[in-house]
Amino acid sequence: MRNQSPSENLFVDNPAYAKQAHLWEYAQGLPSPEKEAFLRELSALPVECMASLYAESQAAQSKQPPVLSPAGFSEKKSQTPETLAFWEAEGFALLEKGAVAAVTMAGGQGTRLGFDGPKGCLDIGVGASLFALQAIRLSKLSARAGKTIPWYIMTSEENHPQTVAFFEENAYFSYPKEDIFFFRQGCLPLLLPDGRMFLNAPGRMAVGPDGNGGVFAALAKSGALEDMRRRGVAWIFFCGIDNALVKMADPVLLGFVSLSGAKGASKSVAKTDPSERVGVFGLISGRPGIVEYFELPSELANLRDEQGSLVYGDANIISHVLALSVLEEICHKGLPYHMARKKEPVFFPNPANLQPEAPNALKFETFIFDAFVFLDEMAILRCERNEEFAPVKNSQGADSPATALALYRALYGDMLA
Ligand code: UTP
Repeated sequence: MRNQSPSENLFVDNPAYAKQAHLWEYAQGLPSPEKEAFLRELSALPVECMASLYAESQAAQSKQPPVLSPAGFSEKKSQTPETLAFWEAEGFALLEKGAVAAVTMAGGQGTRLGFDGPKGCLDIGVGASLFALQAIRLSKLSARAGKTIPWYIMTSEENHPQTVAFFEENAYFSYPKEDIFFFRQGCLPLLLPDGRMFLNAPGRMAVGPDGNGGVFAALAKSGALEDMRRRGVAWIFFCGIDNALVKMADPVLLGFVSLSGAKGASKSVAKTDPSERVGVFGLISGRPGIVEYFELPSELANLRDEQGSLVYGDANIISHVLALSVLEEICHKGLPYHMARKKEPVFFPNPANLQPEAPNALKFETFIFDAFVFLDEMAILRCERNEEFAPVKNSQGADSPATALALYRALYGDMLA
């Protein structure tokens, strides 16, 4: 990061900046105070990093598919009641000791949902927002354990003020305020398909959150990691904000991982069909990982074993647990970037396109699951979809508030649970 305003020479001499010379020209057309502010903003952008990400993405067009092999899993429904009770008791013992924290990753842009505000503020029709549902579940668990679970909520630069204001307006959903910790993830400029950065409004660079993998750097930078250490946390539960059935800090999962000897665990559900748009678990070059649906070659997505089950059929529901010791290591490692195409208004450079109908911008982000490669083993617990997974991704159709509400009602009826 540069601290001073960039100079014209930089935009000529440095190839990474030369590609962004249109931004320098834009600045020259601004009146004085705006010009300085815009140049200051420009100086904070990782121009050289974006140039290498763009170059890598172009080279990756001919990338080989991942060397994937199946990851084993334990199926919850095949366990005896005694085993499940044993895992649950073990998980509760951790909760009672105050050894568990919960992290909600709520910094996404929710572009597919198109809701005006942070996704967590959405009520799918149950009479409580997604944030409120998570608070209710954590409150109940904390009460049963006799110890409040510290709750770390990741926001983005863009949705942070609205998220915090929403909690304040709702009296923190009666959760102890001193046990809630908001922290912001980083952001990165978006690019046009030719690698140039752009503005999405007058004087405003188009930037987006750096992906849910930004959680590690953000935990370390914000002091949240230090706070966990101080509180004696040993296990951290991670989830997204957009699963209306997420079981927060599920004691069964906590017991399952702590007894397994692994330093990390994830829940999965069986994929409904080969084309379902979810990431799947597998071993990538022998190490634990997840492959996103858009990166999984179709022959692997359709591959079935002798019993007819999908070989890569364990869908990621963003319900993970990591040991603090491993989290501390991961926080200091870099994760690979994935490129996605998004619809973003372009104000400058011309031709302006404020309401694109098709994806027109490149977004680079890291994914939390790319950190699993740093674990020797990841214990996977396959759960029942109708008890644990009601994704809220799209405004209509599959994985929408309407489908999530139907799943919620089928499980809980009119109860707030
Ligand atoms: P998604 O990958 O579904 O992304 O996030 P999204 O931003 O919510 O939605 P789209 O793709 O723009 O439509 C999965 C989970 O990861 C969080 C989201 O808030 C969600 O809980 N996330 C995603 C972040 O916290 N930060 C990010 O940068 C991206």
